[in-house]
Amino acid sequence: MKGQKVLVIVGHPDSQKSQMNRELAETWNAQGQTEVRWIGETALDVAAEQQAVERADMVVFQFPLYWYGAPACMKRWMDEVLTWGWAFGPDGGLLKGRGLACSVTVGGRLADYRAEGKHATSLDELCKPMERTAAYVGLKWKGVLGWDRNRLSEIQAENGLARALQSLVSD
Ligand SMILES: Cc1cc2nc3c(=O)[nH]c(=O)nc-3n(C[C@H](O)[C@H](O)[C@H](O)COP(=O)(O)O)c2cc1C
Repeated sequence: MKGQKVLVIVGHPDSQKSQMNRELAETWNAQGQTEVRWIGETALDVAAEQQAVERADMVVFQFPLYWYGAPACMKRWMDEVLTWGWAFGPDGGLLKGRGLACSVTVGGRLADYRAEGKHATSLDELCKPMERTAAYVGLKWKGVLGWDRNRLSEIQAENGLARALQSLVSD
């Protein structure tokens, strides 16, 4: 993260029931210069979300995989916040030069998310809408980090979670 300001948008409909995204959000929160905003089912203050993006160098979408995609609240953040005249359009392009990455939790096994695996696709493929959106609005795509329960517990036991999250957002 080295001096970079990071904005983490946690798109999860239920912060009370969440385990993995809550643990990841807590670790993000403990990083310097990082703002974590939990997006649930309540209405968004679009101007406040846009101001949070403008304060950041890097944006991370942190979400659980729901039916091979992002939960509705994560998608709604994209639909409502990435507006014409701000993110794109003649007076838009305000996101240019910043970065975008995804950190995604799965209920199944991470190892099954590959072309030859049980799900016949990868998290990189499933995050293509985010990658293409990044390209459209001038954000640098920083890739996807995937988590299942085992991987998250393993890396926590090794005290390596903060380092792994930092690697996602560093240059
Ligand atoms: C509506 C719904 C759809 C889901 N779809 C998937 C899926 O497509 N693939 C998968 O691996 N897990 C799926 N899951 C499991 C969640 O990804 C898993 O519970 C979540 O990543 C755990 O994070 P949390 O503890 O923060 O809630 C789904 C869960 C729900 C509620």
